[in-house]
Amino acid sequence: MASMAVTVAGLELANPVMSASGTYGHGLEMRHFAPLSSLGAWVSKTVTKKPRPGNPLPRICETEAGFLNSIGLENRGIDAYVRDVLPDMARAEVTVITNIGGESVEDFAELAERLDSEAAVAALEVNLSCPNVQGGKLPFSTSPAMAESVMRRVRAATKKPIFAKLSPNVSDIGEIARAVEAGGADGITAINTLLGMRVDWRTRRPALNTIQGGYSGIAIKPVALRSAWTCVRAVKIPVIGCGGIGSPEDAFEFLVVGCRAVQFGTASFTDPSRIAHLADEMSTLLDRAGLAAVTDLIGTLHASAAVAKVPGAPS
Ligand SMILES: Cc1cc2nc3c(=O)[nH]c(=O)nc-3n(C[C@H](O)[C@H](O)[C@H](O)COP(=O)(O)O)c2cc1C
Repeated sequence: MASMAVTVAGLELANPVMSASGTYGHGLEMRHFAPLSSLGAWVSKTVTKKPRPGNPLPRICETEAGFLNSIGLENRGIDAYVRDVLPDMARAEVTVITNIGGESVEDFAELAERLDSEAAVAALEVNLSCPNVQGGKLPFSTSPAMAESVMRRVRAATKKPIFAKLSPNVSDIGEIARAVEAGGADGITAINTLLGMRVDWRTRRPALNTIQGGYSGIAIKPVALRSAWTCVRAVKIPVIGCGGIGSPEDAFEFLVVGCRAVQFGTASFTDPSRIAHLADEMSTLLDRAGLAAVTDLIGTLHASAAVAKVPGAPS
């Protein structure tokens, strides 16, 4: 069987498959569908300083391809996470990456400091799509300066590897990638959801209580792939691809453009146990293609040939 092991920012993972934050709860829920040990790493839902009830219903709705959510980072806060979730996750034989969110740079720094002493946590993923409440409520991910300052403070607060999770809702994601690298990020996760909305034209009502929400699933894969590729070219730190991945072939596209790992999110709502088989399915496909290791695929895009084949691409 082809070797599936990868190293991402110093983390030695059995395979490159991770859960995408928020799509498997805090991990304990997922055990009923997929053994956590089948993953390269498990990424938690965003954990915040204080408990959050999330947004009022309706906060999830299907679209023709994928869905919209405005969960609003519902979670029970860092105290409950450390007390009730981490002890079980420590026994789950999986690399745990805890995703953190805050309303200020200080929130992120406090959470990172608190988790630094937790042996069960291998790394942190920093959700930069959270609004900066003290800075006009714009998400941290929309400004290079804000994104860099969060990562700089998180860097100072922890020795664990830190991944910056970027938003596609910006004009130049490469610029944000360079900023988080300058702030001390060990890696980047690209991407979070795209902004979207849906309305019922008969009632004239929006489908989501918050009117707009985050769009995810199969339809966003080309946007996610292009964003991840842009990040790969902008920085030297590793990039984890996320967005619309639902099959081994989808995952391979992200590896070919240079990602070192991939996250599986909305696709799990169709089949929650699928993620457990992805690494084996990838390995079988690699065998058939005559490749000895999944790392043989990483960063192997023939960019000039690809551009030449895209109709209408600038020559
Ligand atoms: C229901 C739902 C909840 C999510 N919650 C979070 C979250 O708490 N933190 C976060 O960083 N991303 C969150 N995301 C974004 C996903 O982790 C992922 O970046 C995005 O959905 C794109 O990947 P996908 O198309 O494979 O789902 C959430 C997505 C969904 C669908």
